[in-house]
Amino acid sequence: MTQKTSNQMWGGRFAAGPDAIMEAINASIGFDKRMAAQDIAGSRAHAAMLAAQGIISDKDAEAIREGLLTILSEIEAGDFTFSTALEDIHMNVEARLKEVIGEPAGRLHTGRSRNDQVATDFRLWTRDQVDAAIEGLKALMQALLAQAEAGADWVMPGFTHLQTAQPVTWGHHMMAYVEMFSRDLSRFTDARARMNESPLGAAALAGTSFPIDRHMTAEALGFDRPAANSLDAVSDRDFALEFLSCASICAMHLSRMAEELVIWSSAQFRFVVLSDRFSTGSSIMPQKKNPDAAELIRAKIGRIFGANVALTMVMKGLPLAYSKDMQEDKEQVFDAADNLMLALAAMTGMVGDMTANRPALEAAAGAGFSTATDLADWLVRALGMPFRDAHHVTGSLVAKAEAKGCDLPDLSLAEMQEVHGAITDEVFTVLGVHNSVASRMSYGGTAPARVREQIARWKDTLS
Ligand code: ARG
Repeated sequence: MTQKTSNQMWGGRFAAGPDAIMEAINASIGFDKRMAAQDIAGSRAHAAMLAAQGIISDKDAEAIREGLLTILSEIEAGDFTFSTALEDIHMNVEARLKEVIGEPAGRLHTGRSRNDQVATDFRLWTRDQVDAAIEGLKALMQALLAQAEAGADWVMPGFTHLQTAQPVTWGHHMMAYVEMFSRDLSRFTDARARMNESPLGAAALAGTSFPIDRHMTAEALGFDRPAANSLDAVSDRDFALEFLSCASICAMHLSRMAEELVIWSSAQFRFVVLSDRFSTGSSIMPQKKNPDAAELIRAKIGRIFGANVALTMVMKGLPLAYSKDMQEDKEQVFDAADNLMLALAAMTGMVGDMTANRPALEAAAGAGFSTATDLADWLVRALGMPFRDAHHVTGSLVAKAEAKGCDLPDLSLAEMQEVHGAITDEVFTVLGVHNSVASRMSYGGTAPARVREQIARWKDTLS
């Protein structure tokens, strides 16, 4: 096995370097280099605070600041050589700082440990993703609002058990998703408030004997306050788990909507036409237009929820404070965040581009005896019948129409009166699908007037 020279950060204690396999299992630089900007921001805040507290000189702090900015531009330009031997982003940056500015680099790590450093960097990274998710959700809600507004009074079948239940409006259906995604937005907002505490200065686990100012670094990094317990600060990954659980619920919502789009765009339904921009073709069947984006969005919940479960399992049973197990947190969150943002953007694009097939929606709305409940309600209202009796009479009328192979409004008055003699031709005013939806005026109901109220409320909230 290759023997390497001992690590420059802790070589004093070590006679030999790590085995290649040790290095392979230990290194996180392959993925945690994504936190370079956060690492440098954290180090800049820390160095400025050390100088303000008189722990390092202003001259050293200035050299550190400039060196870190140089490194940031090297990384941004793709000119930085990441080294696996240096294990992670923290040590890669610090080692490069030493090359760039020399001796003052060694003063940066005063009163700090990689344990609070990684907790800080990862919190900052996750917080950015929460902000991105919130923006992505707002864009999706706007796209849904535009669809809802265009078709506030278009009728379509509402389903239970995926069986036609009662007519609803297209606008109402779109607004149901606005409600779902608004809860995701609210969950991410709550999670952000809870995660916004700074671990920096907790040091390895116990705090430090240097007179550091944790409030100063917390403020510089946009945190609301420093985390109050140093043991908790370095060992807490709740913020990552909350991100993953918010992301999982959001991905579940996206998956449900994606499933509807897959069904709706099928030749059997033809409720929507997805744009060419968000569809794919088949290599063998020239006529095909496939809803691949919707299918992939439907599937994303698998890896996102998987990440949530994986990190929960990593964290369970870990004693306080830091354990190396926690290095396994990042890839889960990185992958979940990447895929959530992609799914949100793809759904926003699909919803923005799709065309609802109004005639097909309307034709389907009336099928399957969808206004049977309206008929029962009319029997209660007009004839004073108890609802249970009205339900029974309506059931007989449905059976009659089914036997005749027609829909409820196609039965003649005489045929209806064979079932119940007191029925008058006023009944036909409630049977059409438009009458049906217009009558659903209860708060939160599908009546176009109610839907327009909700659209106005959400437009106001989002603007
Ligand atoms: N790469 C490590 C991680 O991601 C950084 C913290 C290492 N701390 C330590 N005591 N070895 O968790």
